[in-house]
Amino acid sequence: MSDAAANSPLSNKALPNKALPNSALPNSALPNKALPNKALSNRALPNSAPSNSPLSNKALPNSAPSNRALFDRAEAVIPGGVNSPVRAFGSVGGTPYFVARASGPYVYDVEGNRYIDYVQSYGATILGHAHPAVTQAVQAAAASGTSYGAPTHNEVRLAEEISSRIAGLEMVRLVSSGTEATMTAIRMARGATGRDRIVKFAGNYHGHSDALLVAGGSGVAQQGLVGSAGVTAGAVADTVVAPYNVVPELNETVAAVVVEPVAANMGLVEPAAGFLTGLRRACDEVGALLIFDEVITGFRLCYGGAAEWYGVSPDIWCFGKVIGGGLPMGAIGASAEIMSNLAPLGSVYQAGTLSGNPLATAAGLAVLELLTPDAYRELSEISAYLQAGLTAAFDEAGVEACVPRVGPLLGLFFGSEPPTDFESAKAVCDNGAYPQFFHQMLSRGVAFAPGAYEAVFTSLAHTEVELDATIKACREVAEEMA
Ligand SMILES: Cc1ncc(COP(=O)(O)O)c(C=O)c1O
Repeated sequence: MSDAAANSPLSNKALPNKALPNSALPNSALPNKALPNKALSNRALPNSAPSNSPLSNKALPNSAPSNRALFDRAEAVIPGGVNSPVRAFGSVGGTPYFVARASGPYVYDVEGNRYIDYVQSYGATILGHAHPAVTQAVQAAAASGTSYGAPTHNEVRLAEEISSRIAGLEMVRLVSSGTEATMTAIRMARGATGRDRIVKFAGNYHGHSDALLVAGGSGVAQQGLVGSAGVTAGAVADTVVAPYNVVPELNETVAAVVVEPVAANMGLVEPAAGFLTGLRRACDEVGALLIFDEVITGFRLCYGGAAEWYGVSPDIWCFGKVIGGGLPMGAIGASAEIMSNLAPLGSVYQAGTLSGNPLATAAGLAVLELLTPDAYRELSEISAYLQAGLTAAFDEAGVEACVPRVGPLLGLFFGSEPPTDFESAKAVCDNGAYPQFFHQMLSRGVAFAPGAYEAVFTSLAHTEVELDATIKACREVAEEMA
C-alpha cells in the first residue's frame, strides 16, 4: 500500500480503531462517568445506597433512589412501571427491585441489596452476569461500531457455530429476539408448505406475535389471561391449541406444529415419553413441519439442544436468550432447502435493522465458545445440587413441593407431583404458595423469578457457596411455610 493510500481517510487499514476516539476508552466503552445519572452508576453504589432517598436524583446526585421511589417514577412513565410484564411483581405482590448491577451469580439493587440470582435474565445469562469473556467481547465490539447495516464476519461465525452443533441445521437467520424467531418460523413454515394452520400447545410461550398469543404460559398466564386484547380473531383463526404432552391429530391443512421441547413457561414440564417422537411422526404423516422453540432449551439443555437430548429432530429450530449472551438476539435455523424460502432467496419476507447486531454476535460467540460438553455437565451438577438441597429442605419441613429437573433445567412447584400439562401446572402455580416463598427468599437475599410459571435458572457462576446459602434460606422459609 502506498503512503497516500495508507493515509487516505477511506482506507480501512489506515484507520485501525483510531478513526474514532474509542481507543481512548479501553475496557470502558460505556464509562460510568459518561452516565448523566450517577445514581444508577455501579461505582456510585458500593452496596450502601440509602433506601429512603427522595424521588429526585437531581436533588441528590450522589445518592441512589430507593426501589419504591424508582417504581413510583417508573409507573408514571412506563406502563406498569416495567418493560416486560412479569417484572412488575403483579402475581407475587410488592415492589420490584431495580437492578443497579450484577456480577456472576449475584444481582445488586439500587438500595445496595445483594441477591443470589435465579432469574438470570430468564435464562439468557448462562455464564452468570458480566462474565469477563462476554464484557470484553462486547466492549471490543462496541469500540468498532455498534451497528452497520452490512454483513459482518461474526454473523458468519455465529451461524457456523450454531449449525455445527446440530445435525440437519444447515442455515441460520439471525434476528433480535425469540419473538421474532418464532414469528418468522411460522411465516416460513406457512410459506414453505402453502398451508395456513398451525398447532401450538397450551402453556407453551412463544413470544408475543399475534398468531402465537393464545394459551401462552409465563407472563400471559401470570396475568390470568388466555390471550391478549388487540389480537384479532382473524390473527388466531388458524392457530389450533392442543394440550401439552398429547400428540394431536393433524391433517393436511396444518403447516406446522410448534412446541417447547421441554416446556419452561408453565414452570418446568418435561415432555412425556413418546411425545416428541409422536409429534415427529404425526407431522411426517401429513407433511407438516415440526418447529422446536428452543429459545430456552437451545444451548442451555445441552451442547446440541433438545434434538440431541431427545434424539428427535424438528424441521425448524428457534433460538434466543443464550445465543445472544445477554444481548438482544434470536435465530431461526433449518435445512438449506427450508431456509431458502426466506428473502432474498425466497418469497417469505423477513428483515431487521439490528439483525446480527455486532455486540450481540460478539457476546453470543464468547458464550458459545465456553459452552463445551463439560460446561453442560457442570451446569447439570449445579442444578442437581440445588434440586437435592431444595427437595430435602421442603421434605424435612413437611412442605409439599417438587423440584423437577431436566439436565441443567430446573423447576419448582408447590404440589406433590410435577405437572404434565397446562391444566395441572395452573392448579399448582395458582395455589397461592409461591408468593410467600418468593418474598421470604427475597428477604433472605435469594431472587427467584417473580412468578410461579417461570423456571429456575442456574448459571455456571453459581458455586457451592451460593447454592448452600440458597438451600439454608430455603430450609428457614420451608419451616415458616409448613
Ligand atoms: C420458549 C420461548 N419462546 C419465545 C420466547 C420469546 O423470546 P423473547 O422474549 O426474546 O422475545 C420466550 C421468552 O421467554 C420463550 O421462553
